[in-house]
Amino acid sequence: MTASTPALPLPGDLTPAQDLERMIRVNHAGEYGAKRIYEGQLAFLRPNSPLRAKIEHMAAQEQEHLTAFEQELVARRIRPTALFPLWHVAGFALGAATALMGDKAAMACTIAVEEVIDQHYAEQSARLDAAEAPLKEKIEKFRAEELEHRDTGVAHGGREAVGYPVLEAAIKTGSRLAIWLAQRV
Ligand SMILES: [Fe+2]
Ligand SMILES: [Fe+2]
Repeated sequence: MTASTPALPLPGDLTPAQDLERMIRVNHAGEYGAKRIYEGQLAFLRPNSPLRAKIEHMAAQEQEHLTAFEQELVARRIRPTALFPLWHVAGFALGAATALMGDKAAMACTIAVEEVIDQHYAEQSARLDAAEAPLKEKIEKFRAEELEHRDTGVAHGGREAVGYPVLEAAIKTGSRLAIWLAQRV
């Protein structure tokens, strides 16, 4: 055991290097999925929706997050997820479907997705030690921005969407499944 041993146990029997690889891969995939969700929402939002500027702002932040993890992938020579086409289609479809259901459903989607990402980043951050301080800082910065996105969703009535509990449960389950998959494939 050394000073750099992570404080928390690793999932499964991963080495610290494998754990890091998975973290970067899943974060890259997840940020891509988030970007696609907001693109799908922007494509199908009512033309005069007051949410457009908010969603454009969130999409721009997802692009920044995505670029950061793209750089990590390249710098560390980690392969991206093989499920890119799935994220491309599923992310966009989720955004499109929720926007078509209405502004509040679109915001319900934001709340559900961002809460899962918040939890995911919090768990990662807790596993990163001083040797990975710059990565940890990035993850914490992004986590704070994901929570702002969640708050935007709440402020714009996401929790008042028709069928919110069902929508929330379905989207959270889907998001967790996507995370599980992207860590492995
Ligand atoms: Fe993000
Ligand atoms: Fe976000």
